[in-house]
Amino acid sequence: MLYEIQTYGKDVLRRKTTQIQVIDASIREIVSNMFETMYAADGIGLAAPQVDKSIRLFVIDLAPLDESEGKRVFINPEISSFGDLQDEYEEGCLSIPTIREIVTRPTSIRIAYEDLDGNKYDAEVDGFLARVIQHEYDHLEGILFVDHLSSLKRSLLKKTLKKIASGEIKVEESEDFEL
Ligand code: NI
Repeated sequence: MLYEIQTYGKDVLRRKTTQIQVIDASIREIVSNMFETMYAADGIGLAAPQVDKSIRLFVIDLAPLDESEGKRVFINPEISSFGDLQDEYEEGCLSIPTIREIVTRPTSIRIAYEDLDGNKYDAEVDGFLARVIQHEYDHLEGILFVDHLSSLKRSLLKKTLKKIASGEIKVEESEDFEL
């Protein structure tokens, strides 16, 4: 089942999410639907608030960019530390159609999380996966990538953001992969 992707201006995107207590059939169904929704939108990452679910869960699949990658599910993730190095990358977001901007982020993180089987991990991650995880993790905290931009950059985007919030700009068919 495809979910409707929530776009900029929706309260759910600004809410802090709650922990998942039990990984049951309903969570498995949400995860399955999130992957379906993400693939349909040409996304490589999707966080639960983007489909109107205020819970600590996001999914990632970098396979379109890296064949050795595949489905990844992050339940109740906690980033415990960030590396010292930072890099720049032009990010987009399924919830912020038409806007793409350079965002500076740490190149590595340490993250604890559970998978769909309840296995617990505590992993050091770097490279592009670390970037995508940070973008999706932000969604769980009610943070959007435009929040990382300078106030000057943000003020230049104000009109476009207003149009997204009013529904004038809708979820786009993008040629780039969105997060
Ligand atoms: Ni996003």
